[in-house]
Amino acid sequence: MIDGQFADKGSNMGTAADWIDLSGKVAHVTGGAKGIGRGIAQALSMAGAEVMVSDINGAGAQACADEIGAAAMALDVTDSAAVDAAMAETARRLGSLDILVNNAGLYMEYGGPVRDISDEMWRTLWSVNVDGVFYCCRAGAGIMIEAGRGGRIINISSTQAVTPGVGVTYDGSKAAVAQITKALALELAPHNINVNALAPGPTWVREGEPPLTGGNQPPPSGEPLADTVANRIARLPAGHWADPIEQGKAAVFLASAMSDFVTGIYLPCDGGWLTL
Ligand SMILES: NC(=O)c1ccc[n+]([C@@H]2O[C@H](COP(=O)([O-])OP(=O)(O)OC[C@H]3O[C@@H](n4cnc5c(N)ncnc54)[C@H](O)[C@@H]3O)[C@@H](O)[C@H]2O)c1
Repeated sequence: MIDGQFADKGSNMGTAADWIDLSGKVAHVTGGAKGIGRGIAQALSMAGAEVMVSDINGAGAQACADEIGAAAMALDVTDSAAVDAAMAETARRLGSLDILVNNAGLYMEYGGPVRDISDEMWRTLWSVNVDGVFYCCRAGAGIMIEAGRGGRIINISSTQAVTPGVGVTYDGSKAAVAQITKALALELAPHNINVNALAPGPTWVREGEPPLTGGNQPPPSGEPLADTVANRIARLPAGHWADPIEQGKAAVFLASAMSDFVTGIYLPCDGGWLTL
């Protein structure tokens, strides 16, 4: 075992395996019943963390937790009082709150041409994708600061924050998440709380359906070379959609000692999407 140069700041060298070991850490993953949230919960659990899976779909959260050996609770992230209670309950039931993954989100069903977006569609999506992230960050940061043992907050943004394409409602919400992340990273660094955004590219979350083929292909003949989401997916350099567990691996990096000196970043996990 070799001590790091700044051992007093927690950079004890250990081994590379130690750096991704999350044993003794408690993680809370919102929107973890399915899709990317479940992939992240599973990966954190595989790295040794005690995981609390929450979701507005409480039965789905429980099913995921049963599968990966985690705890579960129902939580609607748009309810700020419920968020406060859920973060406190996580720390009480599992002993602490070290890693918070704000994953719950709504997607294209509230998008479309700007003239067709009602106040209700806008508010519904932003209440989950932005208000929910804020409520969870506020509650989680409060518990981490109080406990005084540092922590990690990982906000799930999207490549759409940088390359819009599915409409102002979703694209704008994910850019907001990226900037909320930076602002919080600045504020919470003195408390040894790292705050980062993970930006998934196309990730296949439709259970029971084989992933669409695609990637490394020219756009369908006759289709203009417009910079549409469909064209980008067809040309995706990685040649395939991500599996949710691939987002989980990136989340383990951001949750672990592998990223001790990483805060305030926007990390694309996108198979090359942003190179296009
Ligand atoms: N799948 C992709 O290609 C992709 C790409 C970029 C970013 N993302 C982001 O990743 C996150 C997860 O997306 P996904 O594709 O896995 O979606 P999904 O629809 O498969 O899963 C989302 C989960 O969030 C839950 N949820 C919805 N509203 C909630 C609320 N108010 N409170 C608590 N939970 C709630 C749902 O019940 C569901 O279990 C989202 O923030 C999404 O914007 C997804």
